[in-house]
Amino acid sequence: MKIITVLGARPQFIKAAPVSRVLREKHTELIVHTGQHYDSNMSEIFFEELHIPKPDYNLAVGSGNHGKQTGEMLQKIEEIVLKEEPDFLLVYGDTNSTLAGALVAAKLHIPVIHIEAGLRSFNKKMPEEINRIMTDHVSEYLFCPTDTAVKNLTDENITHNVLNIGDVMYDAVLYNRELAQEKSAVLSTNDLEKKGYHLITIHRAENTDDLQNIKNILEAFSKIETVKVWPMHPRTKHKLASYGLDLNEIPNLKVIEPVGYLDMLTLEANAQKIITDSGGVQKEAYFMKVPCITVREQTEWVETLEEDANILAGTSVEKILEGIKKEVSPSYKDVFGDGKASQRIVEILENR
Ligand code: UD1
Ligand code: UDP
Repeated sequence: MKIITVLGARPQFIKAAPVSRVLREKHTELIVHTGQHYDSNMSEIFFEELHIPKPDYNLAVGSGNHGKQTGEMLQKIEEIVLKEEPDFLLVYGDTNSTLAGALVAAKLHIPVIHIEAGLRSFNKKMPEEINRIMTDHVSEYLFCPTDTAVKNLTDENITHNVLNIGDVMYDAVLYNRELAQEKSAVLSTNDLEKKGYHLITIHRAENTDDLQNIKNILEAFSKIETVKVWPMHPRTKHKLASYGLDLNEIPNLKVIEPVGYLDMLTLEANAQKIITDSGGVQKEAYFMKVPCITVREQTEWVETLEEDANILAGTSVEKILEGIKKEVSPSYKDVFGDGKASQRIVEILENR
Protein backbone atom coordinates (compact mmCIF):
# COMPACT_ATOMS: atom_id res chain seq x y z
CA MET A 1 0.00 0.00 0.00
CA LYS A 2 1.11 3.53 -0.65
CA ILE A 3 -0.43 6.00 1.76
CA ILE A 4 -0.15 9.76 2.00
CA THR A 5 -0.61 10.98 5.57
CA VAL A 6 -1.51 14.64 6.01
CA LEU A 7 -0.46 16.15 9.36
CA GLY A 8 -0.34 19.73 10.55
CA ALA A 9 -1.09 20.30 14.22
CA ARG A 10 0.42 19.11 17.50
CA PRO A 11 -2.16 16.44 18.43
CA GLN A 12 -1.86 14.93 14.94
CA PHE A 13 1.86 14.28 15.35
CA ILE A 14 1.10 12.40 18.56
CA LYS A 15 -1.69 10.35 16.96
CA ALA A 16 0.44 9.55 13.91
CA ALA A 17 3.40 8.21 15.88
CA PRO A 18 1.96 4.77 16.76
CA VAL A 19 0.14 4.34 13.44
CA SER A 20 3.18 5.25 11.31
CA ARG A 21 5.32 2.81 13.27
CA VAL A 22 3.05 -0.14 12.37
CA LEU A 23 2.24 1.07 8.86
CA ARG A 24 5.87 1.39 7.83
CA GLU A 25 6.67 -2.22 8.78
CA LYS A 26 5.26 -3.36 5.42
CA HIS A 27 3.97 -0.35 3.52
CA THR A 28 5.02 2.97 2.02
CA GLU A 29 3.93 6.11 3.84
CA LEU A 30 4.64 9.64 2.66
CA ILE A 31 4.10 12.36 5.26
CA VAL A 32 2.82 15.74 4.16
CA HIS A 33 3.21 18.37 6.91
CA THR A 34 0.97 21.32 6.10
CA GLY A 35 2.93 23.63 8.42
CA GLN A 36 -0.21 24.63 10.33
CA HIS A 37 1.92 24.36 13.48
CA TYR A 38 5.52 25.42 12.95
CA ASP A 39 7.19 26.55 16.21
CA SER A 40 9.74 23.93 17.13
CA ASN A 41 7.96 23.22 20.45
CA MET A 42 4.65 22.73 18.58
CA SER A 43 6.04 20.53 15.79
CA GLU A 44 9.67 19.44 15.47
CA ILE A 45 10.00 18.31 19.08
CA PHE A 46 7.31 15.66 18.50
CA PHE A 47 8.97 14.29 15.37
CA GLU A 48 12.22 13.94 17.30
CA GLU A 49 10.89 12.55 20.59
CA LEU A 50 8.41 10.15 19.02
CA HIS A 51 10.71 9.11 16.17
CA ILE A 52 8.21 10.08 13.50
CA PRO A 53 9.95 10.02 10.13
CA LYS A 54 10.71 13.46 8.73
CA PRO A 55 7.96 14.80 6.47
CA ASP A 56 8.45 14.07 2.77
CA TYR A 57 6.75 17.37 1.99
CA ASN A 58 6.50 20.49 4.14
CA LEU A 59 3.94 22.94 2.80
CA ALA A 60 4.86 25.75 5.23
CA VAL A 61 1.32 27.12 5.11
CA GLY A 62 1.56 28.66 8.59
CA SER A 63 -1.13 30.64 10.40
CA GLY A 64 -4.00 32.60 8.90
CA ASN A 65 -7.74 32.92 8.67
CA HIS A 66 -9.61 29.71 7.93
CA GLY A 67 -10.13 30.40 4.22
CA LYS A 68 -6.56 31.40 3.51
CA GLN A 69 -5.03 28.62 5.57
CA THR A 70 -7.29 25.84 4.28
CA GLY A 71 -7.23 27.17 0.70
CA GLU A 72 -3.46 27.18 0.51
CA MET A 73 -3.38 23.65 1.90
CA LEU A 74 -5.90 22.45 -0.69
CA GLN A 75 -3.86 23.81 -3.55
CA LYS A 76 -0.57 22.38 -2.36
CA ILE A 77 -1.86 18.98 -1.24
CA GLU A 78 -3.61 18.51 -4.59
CA GLU A 79 -0.34 18.90 -6.49
CA ILE A 80 1.30 16.23 -4.33
CA VAL A 81 -1.58 13.76 -4.57
CA LEU A 82 -1.68 14.12 -8.37
CA LYS A 83 2.04 13.48 -8.54
CA GLU A 84 2.26 10.61 -6.03
CA GLU A 85 -0.97 8.75 -6.89
CA PRO A 86 -1.37 7.06 -3.47
CA ASP A 87 -3.77 4.18 -2.75
CA PHE A 88 -5.14 6.05 0.27
CA LEU A 89 -4.93 9.41 1.97
CA LEU A 90 -4.91 9.33 5.76
CA VAL A 91 -6.04 12.14 8.07
CA TYR A 92 -6.45 12.48 11.84
CA GLY A 93 -8.89 14.38 14.00
CA ASP A 94 -10.54 17.66 13.14
CA THR A 95 -8.16 20.48 12.24
CA ASN A 96 -8.03 22.55 9.08
CA SER A 97 -5.24 20.22 7.88
CA THR A 98 -7.64 17.26 8.29
CA LEU A 99 -10.33 18.89 6.19
CA ALA A 100 -7.92 20.01 3.48
CA GLY A 101 -6.42 16.54 3.08
CA ALA A 102 -9.80 14.83 3.01
CA LEU A 103 -11.33 17.23 0.52
CA VAL A 104 -8.45 16.99 -1.95
CA ALA A 105 -8.42 13.19 -1.89
CA ALA A 106 -12.19 12.78 -2.15
CA LYS A 107 -12.30 15.00 -5.26
CA LEU A 108 -9.49 12.99 -6.85
CA HIS A 109 -11.25 9.69 -5.98
CA ILE A 110 -8.50 8.62 -3.60
CA PRO A 111 -10.13 6.80 -0.64
CA VAL A 112 -9.85 8.81 2.56
CA ILE A 113 -9.01 7.11 5.85
CA HIS A 114 -10.21 9.15 8.84
CA ILE A 115 -8.75 8.24 12.20
CA GLU A 116 -10.74 9.60 15.15
CA ALA A 117 -13.91 9.64 13.06
CA GLY A 118 -17.40 10.18 14.45
CA LEU A 119 -16.63 12.66 17.21
CA ARG A 120 -19.29 15.30 17.70
CA SER A 121 -19.78 18.19 20.11
CA PHE A 122 -23.04 19.20 18.35
CA ASN A 123 -21.78 22.77 18.42
CA LYS A 124 -21.29 24.05 14.89
CA LYS A 125 -19.75 27.26 16.16
CA MET A 126 -16.56 25.28 16.73
CA PRO A 127 -14.34 25.10 13.64
CA GLU A 128 -13.43 21.55 14.66
CA GLU A 129 -17.08 20.43 14.40
CA ILE A 130 -17.33 21.67 10.81
CA ASN A 131 -14.04 19.97 9.94
CA ARG A 132 -15.13 16.64 11.44
CA ILE A 133 -18.55 16.56 9.84
CA MET A 134 -17.16 17.39 6.40
CA THR A 135 -14.30 14.90 6.72
CA ASP A 136 -16.52 12.05 7.91
CA HIS A 137 -18.93 12.59 5.04
CA VAL A 138 -16.21 12.18 2.37
CA SER A 139 -14.25 9.37 4.06
CA GLU A 140 -14.11 5.76 2.89
CA TYR A 141 -12.72 4.23 6.10
CA LEU A 142 -13.95 5.70 9.36
CA PHE A 143 -11.93 4.50 12.32
CA CYS A 144 -13.76 5.46 15.50
CA PRO A 145 -12.25 5.56 18.99
CA THR A 146 -15.49 4.82 20.89
CA ASP A 147 -18.97 3.32 20.53
CA THR A 148 -20.41 6.82 20.89
CA ALA A 149 -18.50 7.88 17.77
CA VAL A 150 -19.94 4.91 15.82
CA LYS A 151 -23.43 5.87 16.96
CA ASN A 152 -22.92 9.50 15.95
CA LEU A 153 -22.09 8.34 12.43
CA THR A 154 -25.03 5.93 12.31
CA ASP A 155 -27.26 8.87 13.22
CA GLU A 156 -25.91 10.67 10.13
CA ASN A 157 -26.49 7.56 7.97
CA ILE A 158 -22.79 6.77 7.69
CA THR A 159 -22.43 3.04 8.27
CA HIS A 160 -20.09 1.71 5.54
CA ASN A 161 -16.56 0.85 6.80
CA VAL A 162 -17.28 2.38 10.21
CA LEU A 163 -15.35 0.56 12.93
CA ASN A 164 -14.58 1.14 16.59
CA ILE A 165 -10.95 0.11 16.79
CA GLY A 166 -10.06 2.01 19.99
CA ASP A 167 -8.17 5.22 20.47
CA VAL A 168 -4.71 5.68 18.93
CA MET A 169 -3.94 8.25 21.65
CA TYR A 170 -4.24 5.42 24.17
CA ASP A 171 -1.69 3.45 22.10
CA ALA A 172 0.61 6.47 22.28
CA VAL A 173 0.23 6.85 26.05
CA LEU A 174 0.92 3.17 26.75
CA TYR A 175 4.00 3.24 24.53
CA ASN A 176 5.47 6.39 26.07
CA ARG A 177 4.35 6.39 29.69
CA GLU A 178 7.37 4.60 31.13
CA LEU A 179 9.76 6.40 28.83
CA ALA A 180 8.37 9.67 30.17
CA GLN A 181 9.07 8.56 33.75
CA GLU A 182 12.65 7.72 32.83
CA LYS A 183 13.47 10.73 30.72
CA SER A 184 11.45 13.73 31.81
CA ALA A 185 12.91 16.22 34.27
CA VAL A 186 9.99 18.63 33.96
CA LEU A 187 8.99 18.39 37.64
CA SER A 188 12.40 19.29 39.02
CA THR A 189 13.07 21.91 36.33
CA ASN A 190 9.90 23.73 37.33
CA ASP A 191 10.17 23.05 41.04
CA LEU A 192 6.95 21.01 41.12
CA GLU A 193 6.02 18.39 43.70
CA LYS A 194 4.15 15.23 42.75
CA LYS A 195 0.43 15.85 43.32
CA GLY A 196 1.25 19.32 44.58
CA TYR A 197 -0.04 21.29 41.59
CA HIS A 198 -2.82 21.62 39.04
CA LEU A 199 -2.03 21.45 35.32
CA ILE A 200 -3.70 23.96 32.98
CA THR A 201 -4.03 23.98 29.18
CA ILE A 202 -6.32 26.42 27.34
CA HIS A 203 -6.28 27.09 23.61
CA ARG A 204 -9.70 26.57 22.01
CA ALA A 205 -11.00 29.50 19.97
CA GLU A 206 -14.29 29.50 21.89
CA ASN A 207 -12.30 30.50 25.00
CA THR A 208 -9.29 32.43 23.71
CA ASP A 209 -11.24 34.50 21.16
CA ASP A 210 -14.02 35.46 23.58
CA LEU A 211 -12.88 38.15 26.01
CA GLN A 212 -15.55 37.39 28.61
CA ASN A 213 -14.82 33.67 28.58
CA ILE A 214 -11.08 34.12 28.99
CA LYS A 215 -11.63 36.70 31.75
CA ASN A 216 -13.87 34.25 33.63
CA ILE A 217 -11.28 31.51 33.31
CA LEU A 218 -8.53 33.78 34.65
CA GLU A 219 -10.79 34.92 37.51
CA ALA A 220 -11.31 31.30 38.52
CA PHE A 221 -7.56 30.68 38.41
CA SER A 222 -6.98 33.73 40.62
CA LYS A 223 -9.14 32.08 43.31
CA ILE A 224 -7.18 28.82 43.35
CA GLU A 225 -4.31 28.91 45.87
CA THR A 226 -2.68 25.62 44.84
CA VAL A 227 0.35 25.85 42.54
CA LYS A 228 -0.72 25.88 38.90
CA VAL A 229 1.50 25.09 35.93
CA TRP A 230 0.36 26.27 32.51
CA PRO A 231 2.27 25.30 29.35
CA MET A 232 0.78 28.03 27.23
CA HIS A 233 -0.31 27.43 23.62
CA PRO A 234 0.95 30.23 21.31
CA ARG A 235 -2.62 31.12 20.34
CA THR A 236 -3.43 31.86 23.98
CA LYS A 237 -0.20 33.78 24.52
CA HIS A 238 -0.93 36.04 21.54
CA LYS A 239 -4.56 36.56 22.52
CA LEU A 240 -3.77 37.43 26.16
CA ALA A 241 -1.17 39.93 24.96
CA SER A 242 -3.63 41.50 22.52
CA TYR A 243 -6.24 41.91 25.28
CA GLY A 244 -3.60 43.36 27.61
CA LEU A 245 -4.64 40.86 30.30
CA ASP A 246 -2.29 40.55 33.22
CA LEU A 247 -1.61 37.20 34.88
CA ASN A 248 0.18 38.72 37.89
CA GLU A 249 -3.03 38.68 39.95
CA ILE A 250 -3.06 34.89 39.83
CA PRO A 251 -1.27 33.39 42.84
CA ASN A 252 1.21 30.53 42.48
CA LEU A 253 0.98 30.44 38.70
CA LYS A 254 3.85 29.14 36.58
CA VAL A 255 3.38 29.91 32.91
CA ILE A 256 5.82 27.90 30.81
CA GLU A 257 6.41 27.33 27.11
CA PRO A 258 4.56 24.41 25.45
CA VAL A 259 6.34 21.20 26.44
CA GLY A 260 7.21 18.01 24.54
CA TYR A 261 5.05 14.90 24.83
CA LEU A 262 7.15 13.11 27.46
CA ASP A 263 7.15 16.18 29.68
CA MET A 264 3.42 16.58 29.14
CA LEU A 265 2.69 12.99 30.14
CA THR A 266 4.77 13.56 33.27
CA LEU A 267 2.96 16.79 34.10
CA GLU A 268 -0.40 15.06 33.62
CA ALA A 269 0.41 11.93 35.62
CA ASN A 270 1.61 13.90 38.63
CA ALA A 271 -1.02 16.65 38.71
CA GLN A 272 -3.61 16.88 41.47
CA LYS A 273 -6.18 17.98 38.92
CA ILE A 274 -6.14 19.02 35.28
CA ILE A 275 -8.02 22.05 33.97
CA THR A 276 -8.27 22.07 30.18
CA ASP A 277 -10.25 22.74 27.03
CA SER A 278 -8.12 20.34 24.97
CA GLY A 279 -9.64 17.19 23.51
CA GLY A 280 -6.49 15.13 23.86
CA VAL A 281 -5.71 16.31 27.37
CA GLN A 282 -9.21 15.37 28.63
CA LYS A 283 -8.58 11.82 27.46
CA GLU A 284 -5.05 11.64 28.80
CA ALA A 285 -6.36 12.80 32.20
CA TYR A 286 -8.74 9.81 32.05
CA PHE A 287 -5.97 7.39 31.01
CA MET A 288 -3.80 8.67 33.88
CA LYS A 289 -6.73 8.56 36.33
CA VAL A 290 -6.32 12.26 37.18
CA PRO A 291 -9.55 14.21 37.80
CA CYS A 292 -10.26 16.72 35.05
CA ILE A 293 -12.24 19.96 34.83
CA THR A 294 -13.11 20.90 31.26
CA VAL A 295 -13.72 24.57 30.56
CA ARG A 296 -16.13 24.00 27.72
CA GLU A 297 -19.91 23.67 27.44
CA GLN A 298 -19.73 20.35 25.59
CA THR A 299 -17.26 17.53 25.15
CA GLU A 300 -16.90 14.98 22.37
CA TRP A 301 -15.44 12.58 24.95
CA VAL A 302 -18.68 11.93 26.83
CA GLU A 303 -17.35 8.66 28.30
CA THR A 304 -15.00 10.68 30.49
CA LEU A 305 -17.94 12.40 32.21
CA GLU A 306 -19.01 9.17 33.99
CA GLU A 307 -18.72 9.43 37.76
CA ASP A 308 -17.31 12.96 37.43
CA ALA A 309 -13.92 11.73 36.16
CA ASN A 310 -14.24 14.81 33.96
CA ILE A 311 -16.44 17.73 35.01
CA LEU A 312 -17.82 20.08 32.37
CA ALA A 313 -17.59 23.51 33.93
CA GLY A 314 -17.97 25.77 30.91
CA THR A 315 -16.47 29.14 31.77
CA SER A 316 -18.44 29.64 34.96
CA VAL A 317 -16.10 30.75 37.75
CA GLU A 318 -18.23 28.94 40.33
CA LYS A 319 -18.36 25.69 38.43
CA ILE A 320 -14.60 25.67 37.84
CA LEU A 321 -14.01 26.24 41.57
CA GLU A 322 -16.59 23.58 42.52
CA GLY A 323 -14.81 21.16 40.18
CA ILE A 324 -11.49 21.87 41.86
CA LYS A 325 -12.96 21.31 45.35
CA LYS A 326 -15.01 18.22 44.52
CA GLU A 327 -13.57 14.93 45.71
CA VAL A 328 -14.16 12.22 43.13
CA SER A 329 -13.22 8.54 42.93
CA PRO A 330 -14.31 7.28 39.52
CA SER A 331 -13.76 3.68 38.42
CA TYR A 332 -12.10 4.60 35.07
CA LYS A 333 -13.38 1.96 32.65
CA ASP A 334 -11.62 0.61 29.53
CA VAL A 335 -13.71 2.63 27.10
CA PHE A 336 -10.87 3.69 24.80
CA GLY A 337 -9.75 0.25 23.61
CA ASP A 338 -6.76 -1.86 24.55
CA GLY A 339 -3.84 0.15 23.17
CA LYS A 340 -3.77 -1.83 19.91
CA ALA A 341 -5.80 0.50 17.71
CA SER A 342 -2.89 1.15 15.36
CA GLN A 343 -2.31 -2.53 14.59
CA ARG A 344 -6.02 -3.03 14.00
CA ILE A 345 -6.16 -0.13 11.52
CA VAL A 346 -3.30 -1.49 9.44
CA GLU A 347 -4.69 -5.05 9.49
CA ILE A 348 -8.10 -3.88 8.34
CA LEU A 349 -6.59 -1.93 5.46
CA GLU A 350 -4.43 -4.92 4.47
CA ASN A 351 -7.46 -7.27 4.43
CA ARG A 352 -9.77 -4.88 2.66
C1 UD1 B 1 -5.57 24.08 15.93
C2 UD1 B 1 -6.88 23.37 15.62
C3 UD1 B 1 -7.51 22.89 16.91
C4 UD1 B 1 -6.55 22.05 17.72
C5 UD1 B 1 -5.22 22.79 17.91
C6 UD1 B 1 -4.23 21.87 18.56
C7 UD1 B 1 -8.08 24.24 13.63
C8 UD1 B 1 -9.21 25.08 13.18
N1 UD1 B 1 -7.84 24.27 14.98
O1 UD1 B 1 -5.90 25.22 16.71
O2 UD1 B 1 -8.65 22.08 16.62
O3 UD1 B 1 -7.12 21.78 18.97
O4 UD1 B 1 -4.72 23.21 16.64
O5 UD1 B 1 -3.21 22.56 19.21
O6 UD1 B 1 -7.44 23.58 12.85
N2 UD1 B 1 0.65 29.73 16.47
C9 UD1 B 1 1.99 30.01 16.64
N3 UD1 B 1 2.88 29.01 16.36
C10 UD1 B 1 2.52 27.77 15.91
C11 UD1 B 1 1.16 27.53 15.73
C12 UD1 B 1 0.24 28.51 16.02
O7 UD1 B 1 2.38 31.08 17.04
O8 UD1 B 1 3.40 26.92 15.69
C13 UD1 B 1 -0.32 30.79 16.82
C14 UD1 B 1 -0.60 31.76 15.68
O9 UD1 B 1 -0.82 33.01 16.24
C15 UD1 B 1 -1.90 31.23 15.12
C16 UD1 B 1 -2.60 30.69 16.35
O10 UD1 B 1 -1.56 30.16 17.16
O11 UD1 B 1 -2.66 32.22 14.47
C17 UD1 B 1 -3.62 29.62 16.06
O12 UD1 B 1 -3.04 28.54 15.32
P1 UD1 B 1 -3.99 27.60 14.41
O13 UD1 B 1 -3.19 26.45 13.91
O14 UD1 B 1 -4.71 28.42 13.40
O15 UD1 B 1 -5.07 27.09 15.40
P2 UD1 B 1 -4.91 26.45 16.84
O16 UD1 B 1 -5.52 27.35 17.82
O17 UD1 B 1 -3.50 26.00 17.06
N1 UDP C 1 0.58 18.40 24.56
C1 UDP C 1 1.97 18.47 24.63
N2 UDP C 1 2.55 19.60 25.14
C2 UDP C 1 1.82 20.66 25.59
C3 UDP C 1 0.39 20.58 25.52
C4 UDP C 1 -0.19 19.45 24.99
O1 UDP C 1 2.66 17.52 24.26
O2 UDP C 1 2.42 21.66 26.04
C5 UDP C 1 -0.05 17.20 24.00
C6 UDP C 1 -1.03 16.51 24.91
O3 UDP C 1 -0.36 15.61 25.77
C7 UDP C 1 -1.95 15.81 23.92
C8 UDP C 1 -1.97 16.77 22.74
O4 UDP C 1 -0.81 17.59 22.88
O5 UDP C 1 -1.40 14.57 23.51
C9 UDP C 1 -3.21 17.59 22.76
O6 UDP C 1 -3.09 18.60 21.80
P1 UDP C 1 -3.84 19.99 21.91
O7 UDP C 1 -4.29 20.22 23.29
O8 UDP C 1 -2.95 20.99 21.29
O9 UDP C 1 -5.06 19.80 20.91
P2 UDP C 1 -6.49 19.09 20.98
O10 UDP C 1 -6.31 17.72 21.52
O11 UDP C 1 -7.38 19.94 21.82
O12 UDP C 1 -6.94 19.11 19.58
